[in-house]
Amino acid sequence: MANKTFYITTPIYYPSAKLHIGHAYCTTIADATARFKRLAGYDVFFLTGSDEHGQKIQQAAEKEGVTPIEYVDKIVAGFQALWKRLHISNDDFLRTSEPRHHRVVQEFFRRAKAKGDVYKGEYTGLYCTPCESYWTELQLDENGCCPDCHRPVEQVSEEAYFFKLSNYADRLLAHIEANPEFIQPVSRRNEMISFIKQGLDDLCISRTSFDWGIPVPDDEKHVIYVWFDALTNYVTAAGFFDDPEKFKKFWPADVHLVGKEIVRFHSIIWPAILMSLELPLPKQIYGHGWLIVDGDKMSKSKGNVVDPNLLIDEFGADAIRYFLLREIALGQDGNFSRDALIGRINADLANDLGNLLHRTLNMIGKFQDGVIEAATTKSAVDEDLIAHAGELVRDYSDAMEKMELSRAIKLLWAFIGRANKYIDETAPWALAKDAAKKSELATVMYNLAESLRVISVLVSPFMPETVPKIWAQLGMAQDFASVRLEDVKTWGGVPAGQHIGEAEQLFPRIEVEKEAPAPKEKPEKQKAAPKQEKKAEPAENGVITIDEFKKTELRVAEVTAAERIPKTDKLMKLTLSLGDETREVVSGIADAYTAEELVGKHVVLVANLKPAKLRGVISHGMVLAASDGEKLKLIETDMPAGSVVR
Ligand code: MSP
Repeated sequence: MANKTFYITTPIYYPSAKLHIGHAYCTTIADATARFKRLAGYDVFFLTGSDEHGQKIQQAAEKEGVTPIEYVDKIVAGFQALWKRLHISNDDFLRTSEPRHHRVVQEFFRRAKAKGDVYKGEYTGLYCTPCESYWTELQLDENGCCPDCHRPVEQVSEEAYFFKLSNYADRLLAHIEANPEFIQPVSRRNEMISFIKQGLDDLCISRTSFDWGIPVPDDEKHVIYVWFDALTNYVTAAGFFDDPEKFKKFWPADVHLVGKEIVRFHSIIWPAILMSLELPLPKQIYGHGWLIVDGDKMSKSKGNVVDPNLLIDEFGADAIRYFLLREIALGQDGNFSRDALIGRINADLANDLGNLLHRTLNMIGKFQDGVIEAATTKSAVDEDLIAHAGELVRDYSDAMEKMELSRAIKLLWAFIGRANKYIDETAPWALAKDAAKKSELATVMYNLAESLRVISVLVSPFMPETVPKIWAQLGMAQDFASVRLEDVKTWGGVPAGQHIGEAEQLFPRIEVEKEAPAPKEKPEKQKAAPKQEKKAEPAENGVITIDEFKKTELRVAEVTAAERIPKTDKLMKLTLSLGDETREVVSGIADAYTAEELVGKHVVLVANLKPAKLRGVISHGMVLAASDGEKLKLIETDMPAGSVVR
């Protein structure tokens, strides 16, 4: 059976630095996409790896008194262990130090040379002798010295091979212009077009100042430039030499997923090399944005590098994957913060998904002795739920095909919200009290179980560890590995008469109190007073700037449920729908409103408030109310839930 094929790659990572959450972000996007494609029936080849050569690695190894390969072996083992923990389903892991790769790089060099695209010349650059590194004018420190050791640099020349990149500028431009999908997103495409239009210089593709690299064929005092070496990994792993059948099947790659700063190497140098070799170009280069930590770029010197292993230890792999994929729209920069992560775990995973599963299983256990009975009736509410599931499968597939992962997740969570609402609308506890409503009750329970089946399948690219657990709790006999997207295109896949499995809590809520800075920290903070003064620029007479105001995210929310918090005067727990998500918020309005009065109101929510625990309930935001000191009235609007208030 000849399947459709899909070849996706991540960049190969440098073993010079420890992998951080930004690297995990890139690999998780590729993994979720690969998993979706497998689900959709594609024959997938998903590649990641390590980029092991170069002067920096050689120097780092020397510093530790080990050989370069000993040095990288240890670090690369750490990469592989991390990918395993994060459930990365790569089909191959390419190390540029492997012989299979050396052969291909040397062959590429030979062929480009035979074509007349490689020539010997002189490389002139600013060289720091103690660091054995070349720098460009722009990289030097403020005194015009080496940015690493701050000693003077000198202009030196060395013999080097060059690749005639300039030969390919016109063909490249024509290709980019004729193929709008080739570079994505559009902003990166435009950048590349203007870069090429400024003219391309030939590229120096060999060095003689170190030897940890792949030797130039027949001229072994040169090693091949790391980017020429690294980019070629994509064809090595596709079987260029070792497996021509495989190469025919998977090359050209469908997507090279890369960070925005290396789009240039992938969409200019790499295609030019391939053109020189007369090989087809990859179909797409997708440049994703950067993960920023608490509003700041991650870097070792700032000490804000987030270690994915520690996060997995604390929250589990699926919660991290979910957060990264949900929170950041592909192509844009996105912020990582612990608070936001905990907020998502509590609201989306523990509350929305966890509760749906828990409530459903609980009711099937209680009302139907744990058996999912056949659905024999159909009300308008049932039809609405089923129609929503159909639309979901269609829209979700469309989003995933376009790699709009965050949109796909939002669609899925809107359906989870719909299914939770279905429970409230059908009130199964009332049906269970009425013997004449037995069939309706069975239908509701069936539809909920079936909704969870659909959700499991669609959530599987994002949360591969969780899904088999939901599957087992639903009592599904089918091996999840054999499930395909086709299986959720029709309603009714849960076999009637099936016994549910044992209920288990998927995502326990995380107590935020522990995370919030304790009051005792205050004196510490005061010690750092000068720094704080700088930050807290605002308020002359309490005036704030428009930018300060814009930090507050105000959204319209619909109150879907309300209940008084026992043993408190005023506190009410509100369940709010923001259209695509559900939140719980604690509000001091119980002496102004009854629970019944609140349900259905469209109120204004401060949506990006740090979660806080009030009388044992975590509040994910605050609703706005007006008060004259006596009366209290919620700010209401007739705009739909989810609308932004500006
Ligand atoms: N070795 C080269 C790639 C060669 S591909 C033929 C390289 N390696 S890297 O380890 O420095 O970076 C690998 C990828 O990680 C890049 O795509 C880069 O954008 C990504 N990220 C590094 N920090 C990141 C964030 N903070 N956020 C998102 N991605 C980030 O470049």
